[in-house]
Amino acid sequence: MKSEVKRYLSNIVEVLEPRLEALLPDETETPASIHKLMRYSLLEGGKRVRPALIMASWEICGGAFGDDRPVLAGAAFEMLHTFSLIHDDLPCMDDDDYRRGKLSAHKAFNEALAVLGGDALCIYAFECLANLGNLEIIKEISRALGTGGMIGGQVVDIESEGKRVDRSIIEYIHTNKTAALIRASVRTGAMLADANEITLQHLTKYGKCIGLAFQVVDDILDEEGTTEQLGKDAGSDRAQGKATYPSICGMVESKQYATRLVDCATDALKPFGEKATVLRSLAEFVRNRVS
Ligand code: IPE
Ligand code: IPE
Ligand code: MG
Ligand code: MG
Ligand code: MG
Repeated sequence: MKSEVKRYLSNIVEVLEPRLEALLPDETETPASIHKLMRYSLLEGGKRVRPALIMASWEICGGAFGDDRPVLAGAAFEMLHTFSLIHDDLPCMDDDDYRRGKLSAHKAFNEALAVLGGDALCIYAFECLANLGNLEIIKEISRALGTGGMIGGQVVDIESEGKRVDRSIIEYIHTNKTAALIRASVRTGAMLADANEITLQHLTKYGKCIGLAFQVVDDILDEEGTTEQLGKDAGSDRAQGKATYPSICGMVESKQYATRLVDCATDALKPFGEKATVLRSLAEFVRNRVS
């Protein structure tokens, strides 16, 4: 039987997939090659955790039923996240051949097209975000993606390869390359529902903690999972000499840390009481996921 959270995620997929499908140019539109790549990478794959967080955060803040904006925001976040994955897999970055259970974009197409397809998804995402009509959200997401966020984290991730770095550097990498966008997804849902400052503060803490937990678990799965189970190259971090939690503090401590972070996220939800069931289950999902 499906758990509540799995059902929540499948419902998100059901609403999101046709939306993504409609937002992207058709494969036959010129230049067809890049549109094929964008659709190949974005559609039919991925857990869609960020759109689920937007929706759950929007719901907890009393978002009005029938409002389409959280779905559009979710679509934009998946475009941004997919752009980051396409570039992350390139030979000049992590050099990984598989993503979401199939060949990564540069393997299925070619490198130049993967660079441009990633760029195009980022640009499409901002067009979607512009249609939300909320400049604060655009600023929020720009900051989460820039050199003070995802891109900054990716730079230090690459520059730390093969080096023995201390824990504060890993914390910096993970907080920026992954937690920044996850935190922004939680905040975006709340901002769309016009949450007040105190509510936003609680949800920001939640988002930051599960964002960091998400990457710690990703590091753990890279060591313990199989390529088949993950749908992406298992063991890639060790092969590349990546700065990860297991590499610096071992598996036992990494797992304890992931659990502590999820506890910290759950703690931030206390003021919401019963209303926070979905966000609590999503935090548990982040800890217990196997892919
Ligand atoms: C993978 O993210 C990259 C990280 C930030 C760790 P996800 O695990 O959310 O990947 P998909 O979207 O489900 O493929
Ligand atoms: C990537 O982290 C985070 C991004 C910003 C894409 P990883 O390099 O660990 O992600 P995976 O394991 O390839 O999905
Ligand atoms: Mg990487
Ligand atoms: Mg990678
Ligand atoms: Mg990884």
